[in-house]
Amino acid sequence: MLEFASRLNGIKPSIAREMYKVIGKPGYISFASGAPSADTFPNREMAELAPAIYLERGNRVNAYGITEGDPELREMLRKRYIDHYHFGSREADELQIFTGAQQILDLTAKALLNEGDVVVVDEHSYSGAMTAFRAYGAKLVGVPMDDSGMIPEELEKVLKTEKKAKFIYLIPTFQNPMGISIPMERRKEIYDIAVAYDKIIFEDSPYFELRYSGDYIPAIKTLDTDGHVLFAGSLSKIMAPGLRIGFAIASRELLAKLTLGKQQQDLSSNPFAQQMAFRYLSKYDLDEHIAQCCDLYRKKRDVMLECLEKEIGSMAHFSHPEGGLFLWIYLPAGVSGNGLGTYLLEKKKLTTIPGSAYHAAGEDIPALRLNFSVPSIEEIHIGVKLLGEGMREYLDSV
Ligand SMILES: Cc1ncc(COP(=O)(O)O)c(C=O)c1O
Repeated sequence: MLEFASRLNGIKPSIAREMYKVIGKPGYISFASGAPSADTFPNREMAELAPAIYLERGNRVNAYGITEGDPELREMLRKRYIDHYHFGSREADELQIFTGAQQILDLTAKALLNEGDVVVVDEHSYSGAMTAFRAYGAKLVGVPMDDSGMIPEELEKVLKTEKKAKFIYLIPTFQNPMGISIPMERRKEIYDIAVAYDKIIFEDSPYFELRYSGDYIPAIKTLDTDGHVLFAGSLSKIMAPGLRIGFAIASRELLAKLTLGKQQQDLSSNPFAQQMAFRYLSKYDLDEHIAQCCDLYRKKRDVMLECLEKEIGSMAHFSHPEGGLFLWIYLPAGVSGNGLGTYLLEKKKLTTIPGSAYHAAGEDIPALRLNFSVPSIEEIHIGVKLLGEGMREYLDSV
């Protein structure tokens, strides 16, 4: 018998796992993905760049890399985010490369959390982050949200009572799972509260460059004057998730701790992937590529919203995201998201992710997350029709 450590005891596989199992199976339509569309991957450009990386830099990319990241890529990304979005220029901040934003989540938890510490999160938040925090013995406290995200007054109430709160985890722009964004005024309020209570904000923002409508909202990091904000970005959704490249912009002091933790995990992120990203960003126009991704996703979002209005408009309401990959269905009070998700899977061969997967306390809530980046336009039409049928049948039966 294997005797496992207690560290992972409280962590259960989520209902989302059942949904993932059937992704790509013939006959199923999936609104359950968390990925960008494979149609956006720059495969041809990357294939062209690959030989020169080995011929010119073979000894470097086949060797162990530097833990902090490839210096050329670091400098290029730092410049991009300073020039385009005006953050990362603070004298005491640096940009470092990690193996996906997911590793930044894990290492931040490793660096900051003792058993029993609290992480303050949105009431509905990214499951991969919450699982990482729980694995270090954290207690998660969910802050109530409205259509504009975390409610500042509620955040303050939590910080007043939770003396062991270590940091605040937020996805302010095109949030996963709900697709909503926090307006600038509220970002300022949240930032001021974090500073007043001397808490770090972990600003997780892998989606902010995927905007299809509405006005750009600056990152919380742009407000940061004294190192209270760690900004985590990623190339996963704007280039390719297989590269496994994320980056953190944060104070040197905090990054030094993350670097220590990273040395025990993987020594360095993949040097070849980092050179690939560097050369892609040098040769091609990433903004142009992002604009093409946005054109595709805008169409898919618009079709999904139109179909939802027609098929389920009388039964439920849903978020209208201005970007990102997801939208959120608010089911009538008392309806089980797990029950409906399972019904749709079994009776309609349609996968969605029940809201419980994202609930800070893991409760079965009346909500579903839908992804619109991966299904084709045709699949969106068919899938939303199935969703409407399934929802009507399920609501009649309970
Ligand atoms: C909010 C959020 N943070 C982080 C990640 C992980 O990103 P990466 O692929 O850079 O590890 C995801 C992936 O879906 C995400 O949705």
